[in-house]
Parts: sequence; structure tokens; C-alpha cells
Amino acid sequence: MRILSGIQPTGPSYHVGNYLGAIKQWVEMQETADCLFCIVDLHAITVPQDPKTLAKSTLEKTAELLALGIDPDRCTLFAQSYVKEHTELSWIFSTITPVGELERMTQYKDKAKKQRENANAGLLTYPILMAADILLYKPDVVPVGEDQKQHLELTRAIARKFNARFGKTFAEPAALIPKTGGRIMSLQDPKKKMSKSDPADTQISLFDSPEAIRKKIKIAVTDTGKDIKYSQTKKPGISNLLLLYSLFSGTTISEAETYFKGKGYAVLKKELADVLIETLEPFRVKKHSLISRDVYLREVLLRGAKKARSLAEQTMEEVRAKVGLLS
Ligand code: TYM
Repeated sequence: MRILSGIQPTGPSYHVGNYLGAIKQWVEMQETADCLFCIVDLHAITVPQDPKTLAKSTLEKTAELLALGIDPDRCTLFAQSYVKEHTELSWIFSTITPVGELERMTQYKDKAKKQRENANAGLLTYPILMAADILLYKPDVVPVGEDQKQHLELTRAIARKFNARFGKTFAEPAALIPKTGGRIMSLQDPKKKMSKSDPADTQISLFDSPEAIRKKIKIAVTDTGKDIKYSQTKKPGISNLLLLYSLFSGTTISEAETYFKGKGYAVLKKELADVLIETLEPFRVKKHSLISRDVYLREVLLRGAKKARSLAEQTMEEVRAKVGLLS
């Protein structure tokens, strides 16, 4: 069983949504599957990045992934830009992907609206590069949060199209989206997903101090009424907090509802902050011990890239021949 997934090196730090939607699954799967995890720095530059800090941010996010339990001896962890085959396959895929399908992507529409003056072509072709990240390694499963579902569907469509045009080359990988936790919402606007690019008080970073966690949970938006009941439509704020409590304390939603019955919102908030602080503390300590080890972190990514490249080269050899490029 082969697994491939990716994450951007952007934003101040990874948050609880990234963890519950993706990274937690990655850590579990590296025990039993052949896992490749890619830090997608080329995707990151579709939004303006400061060239002075991008490389540093990629190393910092590497330290975060290691602190969260990604083990470079059990998986292949690498930076996308180290493996040039990603961009090569992306170009080939761009010649079989209709522009109309790209224009329909929700993430493209959101991002193009946000950065009207820099609605660059890379934002539009972003999902093609993502399809290349995935199909290069011919994985069986791609563990992601719910927001990536549409991109995965496009990846499958690109695989089908390539196979129909050039002969069977790629299987269609399945998206693996957690049943709960695949879409964690913003603490300030629980109708919107938690996002790295939003202000700090909308998200719990996995490396926040205990004081910051307490404060953010305290000011998190709740709903009218007093009952602690899970209902995304009627009580989106409380449902998000209850979901976080259940996932971080290892209880089901209905067990959590029973536990908090008759207790007020303040009790839920206090207990959620307690469980977050306790669970996240070891991550913070581990990141602190890794963060200044630039040489080691770079070496991890280079070692991973070497392994990834040997697989990517095999796929590209096959693809080039099928497309009719000179060998
Ligand atoms: P990115 O960097 O935005 O997010 C990384 C992972 O975290 C998940 N995620 C969430 N899950 C639950 N609730 C949330 N609020 C939340 N926010 C983010 C995302 O679904 C993702 O799994 N396009 C991808 C990166 C990518 C990729 C790939 C992924 C590039 N190539 C190949 C898989 C395979 C992205 O921007 O993820």
C-alpha cells in the first residue's frame, strides 16, 4: 500500500485542522504503509512569498512535521522543489486538462478573489501540479482534509484522460478523508474552515503556548442558548468546540454531549483548553529542540528527495515514452 500526501510550508505554524485532517493520519499510516510526504514549496509561491524567508519557513515546517511524529526513517519526507519531475509531469498534464475544469475549482475561485491583482496563472494550474505530485508516485490512497476533495477528483479525471489518450499508465488514487475532523472550522467564524492564512485568533496552532490556547478558546465564538449539543447548522460554534474536545480527548461526540450536559459553555471551554494544552505540550517541546538544527533538517529533506526522485524518474521514463518524447 502506497500513500502520498502534501502540505504547504506557509503560514505561521500548522494548526489543529491540519493535524486532524491530515498529519495525524500520516503519523499512523507510516507504521504500516509506504508513505511519501511532500512539502509543497512550489505550490506556496502561487501566493506572494518573501524570498528571504521561504526557505527558512520550509525548514521550520519540516521541524514541525518531525515534532508531530513524522519519522524520516519510516517514510519519505521531501521538498517538492527538490524533485524536478513534479513540474515536468505537471506541464504534460496541463496539455490534457481543460481550462474550464480548472476555473470551476472552489479554491481557485476563493484565492483569485482574494488576490485580484495577482490572480496569476499558477493559481489556476495549481491542481495540475497537485495531480503531478500524486500520480508521479502511483499511490493507492491520498490522506487529506475535506477541502482537497475536489482537487483529488480532478487528479482522478486527469489520470483517466491520460490513460485514454496514451494507454493505461495511472491507477486512480482514492482520497482518504477522516469521518470526523476532516473540516475543522475557524474559531471566530465557525461557518468558515480554519485556515493558516487567517488571523491568529481564528486558529489553534499546534505550537501555541498554554496562555495563547486558553485565550483563543476563551474568545472563540459560541452560539445563542446554553445547551452543549452538536448541530453544525443550529450551533456551529459549539459544535466545532465539541468536535475538537472529542477528537483531542478520545471520546465520541455523544459521550462528550452527555459529559457536558447541564454544564455551561465556560466549562466546555475550560476543559477543551486543558486537553489541548496537555496534548500539544510535547509537540512544542520537540519543535523547540529541532528548530535550530538547519543542517539536519535540510539533510532529512535531501535524503527524502533522493528516494522520491528514483520513483519519479521511473514514472517519467514511462510517461515520456508514451507521449512520444525523445528518449
Ligand atoms: P494545505 O497545506 O492547505 O493543508 C494541508 C492538509 O491539511 C488539511 N486541512 C484541514 N483539514 C481539516 N480542517 C481544516 N480546517 C484544514 N485545513 C487544512 C488539508 O486538507 C490538507 O490535507 N493543496 C494542498 C497541498 C498539496 C497536496 C498535494 C495534498 C499539494 N500537493 C498532493 C495532497 C497530495 C494544500 O494546500 O494543503
